[in-house]
Amino acid sequence: MNSSKKTVLITGANRGIGRETARTLAARGFCVIVATRNADDGKQAAQEIAEETGGGVESLALDVADDVSIQSAAKFFGERHESLDVLVNNAGIFPEGESSILEVDRQAFFRTLTTNTLGPLLVARFFRPYLEKSTEGGRIINLSSGLGQLSDMEADAPTYSISKTALNAVTRQLAASLKSKGISVNSVCPGWVRTDMGGESAPRSVDEGADTVVWLAAEAPQSVTGQFLRDRKPIPW
Ligand SMILES: NC(=O)c1ccc[n+]([C@@H]2O[C@H](COP(=O)([O-])OP(=O)(O)OC[C@H]3O[C@@H](n4cnc5c(N)ncnc54)[C@H](OP(=O)(O)O)[C@@H]3O)[C@@H](O)[C@H]2O)c1
Repeated sequence: MNSSKKTVLITGANRGIGRETARTLAARGFCVIVATRNADDGKQAAQEIAEETGGGVESLALDVADDVSIQSAAKFFGERHESLDVLVNNAGIFPEGESSILEVDRQAFFRTLTTNTLGPLLVARFFRPYLEKSTEGGRIINLSSGLGQLSDMEADAPTYSISKTALNAVTRQLAASLKSKGISVNSVCPGWVRTDMGGESAPRSVDEGADTVVWLAAEAPQSVTGQFLRDRKPIPW
């Protein structure tokens, strides 16, 4: 591996916004680790992105809802790489058929929190040693959502919305805890994006959805930390 290249690991990078982020950063010369819960999906996506971009792309099996999987992935990564420059916590689920907070089921709520909130936190925790070794300061980018904004929260998608509000709190906690290590941590709302999650009628393309993530990974000043951003600008929590 060319050690002068920056390394980025993206969870859920086999489709949607994660895949577009992987494609764009590979085209910009990053060494991209496509982390996916299904190993075959990861291998296929990595091969296709490498062919498309001519970039260095690897795959890594990583289920963000499974601690053993996260730990194994971090160990496997550490056997091949000294450091990690950027972690993109992109993997997420949108539970179908949720009607009302008044009918929320404990197990369903827990499933959403496990993937959308605790997943990014634990991936950050186990990859932190490699982020600390980044020569330019590590970066953690958490894919949040406007539905997680407390400032205008309504009754829609209760467990998803709350999981993203809590993810924003994880961003703030991590940003404060990792500041002394030079690691920046931010939340991004990608807007409403045409993916399997966003659906066909969403107004934004995947490259528009990935734009702020790519900017934070490749261009933003390291001093940008502890923020919630859409279209490269801070938005209310
Ligand atoms: N699309 C939007 O309008 C929108 C708006 C606001 C925020 N977001 C956020 O942006 C992120 C990406 O969304 P998207 O629209 O690209 O979603 P998507 O097309 O549904 O893709 C979701 C990705 O997450 C992966 N994933 C789910 N659970 C996982 C797990 N336990 N371990 C590892 N990977 C897992 C999926 O893998 P599999 O293929 O294995 O299922 C898939 O690669 C999400 O965090 C989402 O909440 C999206």
